[in-house]
Amino acid sequence: MSNSFTIAVDGPAAAGKGTISKAVAAHYGFGHLDTGLLYRAVGAKMMEGVAPVTAAQTLTPEDLAREDLRGPEVAQAASKVAVISEVRAALVDFQRAFARRAGGAVLDGRDIGTVICPYAQVKLFVTASAEVRARRRFLELTAAGKVITLAEVLADVKARDDRDMNRAEAPLKPADDAVLIDTSELSIEEALAKALAVIESRMETA
Ligand code: DC
Repeated sequence: MSNSFTIAVDGPAAAGKGTISKAVAAHYGFGHLDTGLLYRAVGAKMMEGVAPVTAAQTLTPEDLAREDLRGPEVAQAASKVAVISEVRAALVDFQRAFARRAGGAVLDGRDIGTVICPYAQVKLFVTASAEVRARRRFLELTAAGKVITLAEVLADVKARDDRDMNRAEAPLKPADDAVLIDTSELSIEEALAKALAVIESRMETA
């Protein structure tokens, strides 16, 4: 195995890619970068009146550590700033530097296997039906005390899917050599086992 091993995990919102990525990184002792947080931090700043490109070019570790990045309003703002090519360009170097860190790295997002790390040794595309994803996100949000309906969450998920998949630059889509994992009918343990099986087989040949 070469010194730097990169695992790219892409997919739509609430498909389970964050959970899988975190567990995979912990399993191998790799670093994990949730690249959605970068776009969320830019989106949150836009909501406060900062121009998105300026926000992306001046992002600090403190911006990424904000507690308020997880909500559905910030998610929509993130999806909106993510269509701006100068915003995406400003975030590339940070993501690529993270991917090259010694030991290994797991990056999850929308364009990791296609644009950020096309050389990644492993590419997973984690997906699930919009209804399953909306229900998961709904349970998460209501458990956190948010007052919202399942219909609202489903509409949010579909709007974001549509914007993320149909933008001109770096649209959400599986890389040609990505392995698809549909988590609609899988438990977290089953989804993780599938991911680890793919990764193990790639590590043997890397
Ligand atoms: O993964 P997430 O739900 O936190 O991402 C929020 C938004 O950020 C998502 O709707 C689109 C955008 N995004 C992106 O365009 N590219 C990435 N690599 C990660 C996220």
